[in-house]
Amino acid sequence: MSIFELAGISFEYESGRKALDSVDLVVPEGEALSVLGTNGSGKSTLLYILQGLITPSAGTLKVFGDTAFTADKKTRIGIMFQNSQAQLFSLTVLDELMFGPLQHGLGVKEARSRAGDIMELLGITGLANRSPWQLSGGEMKKVALGTCLSTNPDIYLLDEPTSGLDPRSQVELVELVIRLKESGKTIITATHDLHIIQDISERAIIIGEDHRMLAAGASNEIVRMQDVLLKANLIHEHAHKHEGYRHRHSHFGIHEHPADEEEPGQGDMPVPGQKISKQEGKPGMSNLEERLKILLEHWQEHNAEHAKTYLEWAEKAQAAGKAELAATLREIAQESGRLEELFRKAEKQL
Ligand SMILES: Nc1ncnc2c1ncn2[C@@H]1O[C@H](COP(=O)(O)OP(=O)(O)OP(=O)(O)O)[C@@H](O)[C@H]1O
Ligand SMILES: [Mg+2]
Repeated sequence: MSIFELAGISFEYESGRKALDSVDLVVPEGEALSVLGTNGSGKSTLLYILQGLITPSAGTLKVFGDTAFTADKKTRIGIMFQNSQAQLFSLTVLDELMFGPLQHGLGVKEARSRAGDIMELLGITGLANRSPWQLSGGEMKKVALGTCLSTNPDIYLLDEPTSGLDPRSQVELVELVIRLKESGKTIITATHDLHIIQDISERAIIIGEDHRMLAAGASNEIVRMQDVLLKANLIHEHAHKHEGYRHRHSHFGIHEHPADEEEPGQGDMPVPGQKISKQEGKPGMSNLEERLKILLEHWQEHNAEHAKTYLEWAEKAQAAGKAELAATLREIAQESGRLEELFRKAEKQL
């Protein structure tokens, strides 16, 4: 069953500021999904819509199969706000963590026991009698996550859960999300943290700076789509010196140094990150065409790089006396040539 089905969802704040534009998205039960996008792209707005806090300005939203966003559906969805202060209002952390369970009809004893379990799980038992308002940012974040866990929702909406956490707490949070995922929860996480998305989600979407869906795919593929990530302002290219020459690479991911990026003899001249400008779509292109154009360029670039590597390894295999393997690798390289042709053909058909 689909938990959420969004068709052409747009949202404008009262000021008339656009926050989401024509977003289509289906989230099946049990999926762990990351929502990526630069500041102001609309990630938090999307989570508010999925929690029923705000109603889309346009489009259709189905929750658990239909368009009625009833109170009982809302109670199945827990949200951890980006700004923890917006979430915390009780006098003590213990009260804060008991509030949800009490609202859900648990007795005081049970609610206290559940709050105790959660504090233990999050390593915040020592904060039980502190005021949530006098905690550090990271401590507040953990309490806010605790309030989310306290009602045992089926769906988790986590807005930037790792921001402001120290490295150990970040790892613990990732492990917690993995456990929630394994227990069958549906988890949607808005984040900038590309390093965690492969651990916390199978699938990721990117919302572009124009508030439209820019890309969607398996998390391990999305993190490698350097050009798309650049376009979405999720990574930046920078130039730096490396063994005497300058070259350029993106500031995330596998620190690749493909041979054709090396630009010897440029001294200390800055190399501007202009890679993305060549990918801007033609005027009049639809969103799908623009996205596909970027993807086709991305695939071609990688295909060309891979083809070089196959040949290099074919030579190595040959030198090591593995003639058969070398021949197969050469065959793979030839097939890459065929792929190149098909990519170009597809580009012309855009
Ligand atoms: N209450 C509001 N009133 C008016 N505009 C708003 C409001 N909240 C957000 N916006 C605007 O809506 C757009 C989307 O904001 P949103 O908070 O959803 O972005 P985000 O992707 O979560 O950004 P960040 O990474 O900074 O958290 C932005 O242009 C923002 O300025
Ligand atoms: Mg946000």
